[in-house]
Amino acid sequence: MTIGEDKLEVIMDYAICMDWVVAFDGKSKGNQHLHRVNKIVEYLADVEYARHDICVAGGWLHDLGLINGNKGHCFAGIEPAKEYLTEIGVDPEDIEMVTHCIEAHDGEVEAKTPEAKVVHDADTVDKMGPFGFVRHVWKISLIEDLEPEELVQDVSEHLANRHSKLYFSSSADLIKDFVQVLASFLEDKESAGRVAEIVSRGAKEGVPSEKVAESLFGDPALDEDFCESIRKHMSVDYLP
Ligand SMILES: [Fe+2]
Ligand SMILES: [Fe+2]
Repeated sequence: MTIGEDKLEVIMDYAICMDWVVAFDGKSKGNQHLHRVNKIVEYLADVEYARHDICVAGGWLHDLGLINGNKGHCFAGIEPAKEYLTEIGVDPEDIEMVTHCIEAHDGEVEAKTPEAKVVHDADTVDKMGPFGFVRHVWKISLIEDLEPEELVQDVSEHLANRHSKLYFSSSADLIKDFVQVLASFLEDKESAGRVAEIVSRGAKEGVPSEKVAESLFGDPALDEDFCESIRKHMSVDYLP
């Protein structure tokens, strides 16, 4: 049995509502991460021959645990997802497959199914490059109070670690240009610290991550490649 389109639609509405209203106390309202991840999920599910319905449900629900905070959110999402999927009548075996996508999405737990690998990689792809840098600085700034240099260090390490855990070469191919642009941006530590400071301030003032990223477009000190990469990433038009 597969999870039908009607159920996938209510899953999407539920996941977006939780992400915009409950997670981060509503500070990420309007955030398009789940929408982007699901476009990447659809592409990867196709090229990697994974089950679409499981990948799509896992894609929408992967960050559900953020309703209880960022720490351990992969595991915190399992129970609420199980409860919700049972309530709307999803088959128990399918629920297991979806919750495995949730628990394995950040690489702490090894993904054992093609579907969990797809969701893991789609989430990682949306975290890479200049836009991933902005998004992660934004997220960390809501959780911890770090100096700009520490933020840059933390975020660079986190992104490199996530990148190293990609399962599919088809995922790595999608973002190789973004990764290169970010690597050259990070060579200038002063500029990276300055951008981290702008993003961090925006996050604390309650500006959504996409809006903070867009505010960088007019910055004369920033490379056109950096801004172009953010634009492409946000519109997901780099997908083949
Ligand atoms: Fe996550
Ligand atoms: Fe995510």
